[in-house]
Amino acid sequence: MKPRSILVTGGAGFIGSNLCLRLFGEGHHVICLDNCFTGDLRNFGDAYRDMVLSGRFEFIRHDVTEPITIEVDEIYHLACPASPVHYQYNPVKTIKTNVMGTHHMLGLAKRVNARILLASTSEVYGDPHVHPQTEDYWGNVNPIGVRSCYDEGKRVAETLMFDYHRQHDIPIRVARIFNTYGPNMAIDDGRVMSNFICQALRGEPLTVYGEGEQTRSFCYVSDLVDGLCRLMNGDNTGPINLGNDGEITMLELVKAIEDSVGTPLKIVHKPLPQDDPVRRRPDLTKARTLLGYDPKVPLEEGVKQTIQYFRKLLKDWGERPIEAARRTPAHAK
Ligand SMILES: NC(=O)c1ccc[n+]([C@@H]2O[C@H](COP(=O)([O-])OP(=O)(O)OC[C@H]3O[C@@H](n4cnc5c(N)ncnc54)[C@H](O)[C@@H]3O)[C@@H](O)[C@H]2O)c1
Repeated sequence: MKPRSILVTGGAGFIGSNLCLRLFGEGHHVICLDNCFTGDLRNFGDAYRDMVLSGRFEFIRHDVTEPITIEVDEIYHLACPASPVHYQYNPVKTIKTNVMGTHHMLGLAKRVNARILLASTSEVYGDPHVHPQTEDYWGNVNPIGVRSCYDEGKRVAETLMFDYHRQHDIPIRVARIFNTYGPNMAIDDGRVMSNFICQALRGEPLTVYGEGEQTRSFCYVSDLVDGLCRLMNGDNTGPINLGNDGEITMLELVKAIEDSVGTPLKIVHKPLPQDDPVRRRPDLTKARTLLGYDPKVPLEEGVKQTIQYFRKLLKDWGERPIEAARRTPAHAK
């Protein structure tokens, strides 16, 4: 494949850093743009220095709510906090990131004639009446709830993508990403996978919301990144669901973690949060038939890798409470 100059917004975050590493490994020139709200350059680990010295990797600290001009062939637009604790920290900023950020990236794509992929989300389906969710389902989203800054923000971002495509002929790709997990998740991600693993590794009881019968489907990050690259390199605009269609209950996830950690785990039940979807599973027919996408990493293997990652992270973190990682007022603007 011919090396290209590729911009990854949100490139220092969980999925973004894994994507940058893959694209860099394929020989591309990678420009990682991030405001470091939830992202961290330490996600590149020891590879960072060599990547920069190779001359094929650049980091730009920038906020996508401001425009930027830069010469690139492709844009993977991921910038946006993904976990509820992060996107609800400053909801106005979250919706600005989704709407203004996507508008600015589309403006850039138009100026330099770049192909642009939006990391949208399964949250555009809200609390779905259709199960599993197919791409033609329009969703059941609360426009004024505490999650709206994120899910309505992404819905507008998708609208912008398709309007730029229809009006200005911009080559677009839209991925609807379902729950993804794996190395480089933030320690304070606050979602079930990292919560359970951190609690298990710290010897604390696992917090299960409701009865634990609600389902999720979890996709290992290398599979998801593979899907993003297939979508970018293929001929379909999307929207296309990307994730893993193996559906499990929260209690089944507890069991998978218990098996991997090797010690019995205790559980405490808490009330379900507002607007929390009861069921979530992608229909991957489109991704499979149009992209040849096939998530490969089984839950047991992915959980094992993620536990290994968090074990090291928690060792460096020490005894400090996880809440100490919460964002600073500098990010409240
Ligand atoms: N992780 C998932 O399960 C999941 C599911 C659905 C969709 N997504 C989407 O994938 C993308 C990446 O998610 P993630 O899990 O890696 O989250 P993340 O929080 O780890 O990464 C987001 C990155 O964007 C950066 N960022 C946030 N606001 C910014 C701004 N205004 N300007 C520049 N950079 C900014 C953050 O610092 C961070 O590095 C997001 O767009 C998210 O909505 C993720």
